[in-house]
Amino acid sequence: MESKKSSLGSSTPDISPSAAPSYAYALGLTQFQGFWIPSRHVPTSSIISFQKYFQALDEDIIVVSKPKAGTTWLKALVFTIVNRHSYTLSNTPLNSANPHQLIPFFDADLYKENPNPDLSKISSPRLFSTHLPYSMLADSIKRSNCRIVYITRNPFDIIVSLRHFFRFIDDWSVEDYLEMFCRGEEPYGPFWDHALGYWNMSVEKPSNVLFMRYEELKEDSVAQTKRLAEFLGFAFSMEEEKTGVVNQIVDFCSFNNLKDLEANKTGKIPRSIIPSNKLFFRSGKVGDYVNHLSPAAVERLSNILKEKLNGSNLTFN
Ligand code: A3P
Repeated sequence: MESKKSSLGSSTPDISPSAAPSYAYALGLTQFQGFWIPSRHVPTSSIISFQKYFQALDEDIIVVSKPKAGTTWLKALVFTIVNRHSYTLSNTPLNSANPHQLIPFFDADLYKENPNPDLSKISSPRLFSTHLPYSMLADSIKRSNCRIVYITRNPFDIIVSLRHFFRFIDDWSVEDYLEMFCRGEEPYGPFWDHALGYWNMSVEKPSNVLFMRYEELKEDSVAQTKRLAEFLGFAFSMEEEKTGVVNQIVDFCSFNNLKDLEANKTGKIPRSIIPSNKLFFRSGKVGDYVNHLSPAAVERLSNILKEKLNGSNLTFN
């Protein structure tokens, strides 16, 4: 039987559809509050601390995604939009730091290092992020008037992106990752429950939750960036639009520009398990999955998604 290299540092048995617990075990996932959490990287204790202690402010902005849905891109855009009156594009901290260093994760950064960090000195608006589903956010966020921006992406491209990203940990195939998604047993999965949680809140509270899609951001970056800025309370003025500020921000945060910045080419986030910032930038394309997944595999997950999202008005093409 073929062996697969895993993040445990030893070999794990080959994975067949009947070997249900293997993915979760080998990826270090724990089922916690209804979702699969990568607990070796994000201890459930840091999630509990976040849920218990985080006090949201109405001005807070929270970037949310599933891994590989476009988190890095969205963080760069949010940071640049919000700070455009403090920094020019030539002196923005994004030139020397990866977007993840400028918008930290609650669970994987802030509450992992300290169960009750003092976040009161951060200047307003405070920018945070998480991969957690809506149901697992701190209650203070749900009670406050803060803004949540959620980005999602078609799950097939996420699967391919994840498979390439996690090569530094495991050597599973793209089919293995597809199998995980079909079972809902991937990091922060199930995919459908994660997306539905934010989709439903974006319908219920549109001024607090913005639902974005990687594909739409790619297709019309300028319109989506304006939509994002407006939602954040940092709308572009007519003057800014006329003088090309929106286009400059879109170009600065584009895949080609960000990937070539020194911090992203050669940098590494201190204490992160990710060996190089380079890994956050692979190809940045829509629909790359057709080169990696068979039509039958795509159909299989499509059918599961259709069933899981039935009645919700949420669809993935
Ligand atoms: P691919 O692996 O398909 O290229 P995340 O930031 O959530 O980890 O997602 C990473 C994915 O977003 C990768 O997708 C990466 O290449 C892509 N990406 C990163 N920065 C981007 C940008 N500025 N524009 C478009 N895609 C970007």
